[in-house]
Amino acid sequence: MSAQDLDAGVPPAIPEPVAESRRLVYRHPLPIRVMHWINVVALTLMLFSGLQIFNAHPSLYWGNRSDAGTELLTLGARQDATGKLVGITRVGRHEFTTTGVLGVSNGSDGSPQVRGFPSWLTVPGPQWLSMGRRWHFFFAWVFVLNGLCYVGYALATRHLQRDLWPTGSDWRGIGRSIIEHLRFKHPHGDEALRYNILQRLAYLVVIFVFGVGIVLMGLAMSPRMDAVLSPMVEAVGGRQSARTIHFIIAWAFVAFVLIHVFEVLISGVFNQLRGMITGYYAIDAAPAGAPPAEAVSPGPVDPAEPAPPSPDDPVEPAPPEERPHD
Ligand code: HEM
Repeated sequence: MSAQDLDAGVPPAIPEPVAESRRLVYRHPLPIRVMHWINVVALTLMLFSGLQIFNAHPSLYWGNRSDAGTELLTLGARQDATGKLVGITRVGRHEFTTTGVLGVSNGSDGSPQVRGFPSWLTVPGPQWLSMGRRWHFFFAWVFVLNGLCYVGYALATRHLQRDLWPTGSDWRGIGRSIIEHLRFKHPHGDEALRYNILQRLAYLVVIFVFGVGIVLMGLAMSPRMDAVLSPMVEAVGGRQSARTIHFIIAWAFVAFVLIHVFEVLISGVFNQLRGMITGYYAIDAAPAGAPPAEAVSPGPVDPAEPAPPSPDDPVEPAPPEERPHD
């Protein structure tokens, strides 16, 4: 509307009604959210401190022994003809030059140093094994206690059985779900409220295979525990095998997080993060017969900034049957 229209007293145009409506539903209960973010902090610090510990002996082996010449993976260094340090990553019999990142990277003084992973990937930054172990073991306890609380809570509230365990129809729809993921298509409306089969499988594998596996392999490396756990240590082939599996699972966690964060980014980062921070998640279609008070128009809703009443307002928590994670 122009300034002349205003001067002429023409009333403002009434906006077209929004074709699609949005509802905010309470999706993730507080304990799940708190434990999720504790887990993110603990895993991040365990990864970085774990790489610090790895740097004290940047090679992996299989079995019980760590003999020279039997390495599966080595992050090492050599000098070239001019005396310059060159970072070498050796996987089996294949060698790669990885100067600057693996094997040789700049230290805090800016000069090239021989170290497995670079200082920006380790906690603490400089080579300091004992401090790395302190960080790692502290957050290992946080991770284990938090994980036990999560599994206990998820069982007690039936979150695990209801929201994470795949149903028969989930299994039957796995092909469609894979195709939809490959096309980056995401469910809308009420369908977006439940985890699809790929999410369920990913979360179950992360919790019960990666989570349990990394803790058991960590315990298997501990001199005090490997006596108690010796049958398990033998079953995986020895302490060096346990160390290798521990390392592989750590990177499997990283791969999961990259895919997980990518999915969050492409499926509505603001809505997804609000869901995991405040619990409230917007779905983009009101079910038939939903009370009008619950309808809100599309567009981001920021609960931190309450706006005057408008169709964009956040609404009351959805009734219990719409709170699948309670
Ligand atoms: C550090 C490793 C991480 C692990 C192991 C992890 C694991 C999980 C698991 C198991 C769930 C399902 C929770 C449940 O309903 O019980 C979940 C949900 C979620 N995570 Fe993570 N997560 C990690 C990092 C992150 C990060 C960095 C972000 C932020 C970008 C994030 C954002 C979310 C969101 C938004 C959901 C809800 C997804 C939905 O409702 O569809 N996660 N995560």
